[in-house]
Amino acid sequence: MNDALMNELALLREFGYTHLDVSGQRAADSGQEDQRALLAEMAAVANACQKCKLAKTRTNVVYGVGSPNADLMFIGEAPGRDEDLKGEPFVGRAGQLLTDIIKAMKLTRDDVYIANIIKCRPPENRNPEPDEIEECRPFIRRQIEIIQPKVIVTLGRIALQSLMERDYAISGARGQWLDFHGIKVMPTYHPAYLLRTPSAKKDVWADMKKVMAELSSASAETIEP
Ligand code: URA
Repeated sequence: MNDALMNELALLREFGYTHLDVSGQRAADSGQEDQRALLAEMAAVANACQKCKLAKTRTNVVYGVGSPNADLMFIGEAPGRDEDLKGEPFVGRAGQLLTDIIKAMKLTRDDVYIANIIKCRPPENRNPEPDEIEECRPFIRRQIEIIQPKVIVTLGRIALQSLMERDYAISGARGQWLDFHGIKVMPTYHPAYLLRTPSAKKDVWADMKKVMAELSSASAETIEP
């Protein structure tokens, strides 16, 4: 088990969570129901989380939704007002646009997994602060470990920088494949940016075409002997 995973396990133990098997192999070997159960266990830990100041102002923890063994995972920044009220990521106007993008890829929200870097709404939708990102990091890392997607799409600068722990410029990084512990990462614009700048939709569509091509070649490799 690597250091990051050991730290994460220590943190979860600190939460009083003692029955967690964090071996990546277990998630890899398990069926969809096991992955669903592991995600539900982690969601319960998140629901009780008081690690940062956002716990005091949230209505709901917004953990994540979708298929527990999705090939494709979308990662946004943090819940907004609608998401905080509903407890589900990307359900407001930007969320509707993300749903349309997913449909255009001939998928549904149930086929993919959708989560945010930060699980609680920052007041007035301000940017998440560094301590909030760090306290929340074990949750997104664990979601990725359990789901083991083939491709991650990061939505916007903050999701990209927070996941990769590097100060990328979104305009330069967008559309270029990156690697997160062996998983392909495609950075693209945030749907809220597309609402303000519809001319950027074509760039996002170009990025999603690369994602679709990668997913179909990955599934062809799985089928071939
Ligand atoms: N923006 C995000 O980054 N995430 C959401 O869930 C909603 C809006």
